[in-house]
Amino acid sequence: MAKEVVLSGIRPTGFLHLGNYFGAMRNYVRMQAEYNCYFFVANWHSLTTHPDTKELKAAVRRVVAENIACGVDTEKAAFYVQSDVPEIAELYLYLNMLSYKGELEKTTTFKDKVRTQPDNVNAGLLTYPVLQAADILIHRAVKVPVGKDQEQNLEMARNFAQRFNHRYGEVFPEPYGFNYGEQLVKIMSLDGNGKMSKSENQLSTLYLADEDDLIRKKIMKAKTDQGPEELKSVKADYIENLFTLMKLVSEGDTLQKFEDDFNNSSAGNCVIRYGDFKKQLAEDMVKFIAPIREKAIALQHSETELDKIMKQGADKARASASETIKLVRKAVLG
Ligand code: ADP
Ligand code: TRP
Repeated sequence: MAKEVVLSGIRPTGFLHLGNYFGAMRNYVRMQAEYNCYFFVANWHSLTTHPDTKELKAAVRRVVAENIACGVDTEKAAFYVQSDVPEIAELYLYLNMLSYKGELEKTTTFKDKVRTQPDNVNAGLLTYPVLQAADILIHRAVKVPVGKDQEQNLEMARNFAQRFNHRYGEVFPEPYGFNYGEQLVKIMSLDGNGKMSKSENQLSTLYLADEDDLIRKKIMKAKTDQGPEELKSVKADYIENLFTLMKLVSEGDTLQKFEDDFNNSSAGNCVIRYGDFKKQLAEDMVKFIAPIREKAIALQHSETELDKIMKQGADKARASASETIKLVRKAVLG
């Protein structure tokens, strides 16, 4: 039986961080073994919010290198840059005729952007979900590993697919968000304010490109408090987040020791030493991030290797995209 098609994209709007790793890339690596996977760098999408392209090329290459360094295997998955696949733009054109101003204006991300960039409410921003639908439908993908924030965009992609099929005949399956059954991981910012993000407080976000000492510094500065008031206290969310990080990067018995220390602590008898806890976490985090960072840097220096990877990804993606676009042209234009 043919493997199901999976697609996901990441915008090259900043440095990738631990939230991207555990929320997205870790799933990519898992899925590539089981599915027919397409992963890409959404550089057209980034133009909707970042019209200055001086740093775009380097950012695209860094995102590609970091994904490979995290374990995306280009022999298994197609990993490509959106602008290398012009078929996506053609599908976007057809889908634009089936999407309506009213529904686009109602989307939460559009409304957010109108607020945050009132001087640049461009049409690309309005039709962002249409381009995203084209990204997905061009490979007739059915599973899309993304965070919860993308649910509305996926719903719109399903609507556009249905509308197209209804009007021009069945071409597209309906795509759904996907994760591995467990709860979606959300990595909080180290200052306890919201999630780690490309654009939020940089000293509270651990980037995959951070040097060892910077990782240590950020973790040692992470928010903690006086310690638990009573035995087996419920953890404050910023403490819980540090434990989540330790669970993700440290050995099981290390985590257990600090869990026990926490649970045995109470006011006047604080067994857990947050200083030691963070020091241990910092060292384990360095061990986790350093090899990814080094591999990504090496790849970025090896221009020909990176070019080869991007060309191979584009070829694979275009093979699939051109099949779909032929069906689309036939359905629409006859
Ligand atoms: P950012 O918010 O940093 O700009 P994106 O919106 O580009 O990140 O998200 C890329 C992928 O990384 C998405 O699948 C998203 O769900 C995931 N992701 C981003 N931040 C986090 C986080 N703090 N915790 C878990 N997953 C995250
Ligand atoms: N909008 C997504 C984000 O902000 C990025 C993206 C663009 C995407 N096209 C996609 C994700 C297609 C999944 C599928 O994270």
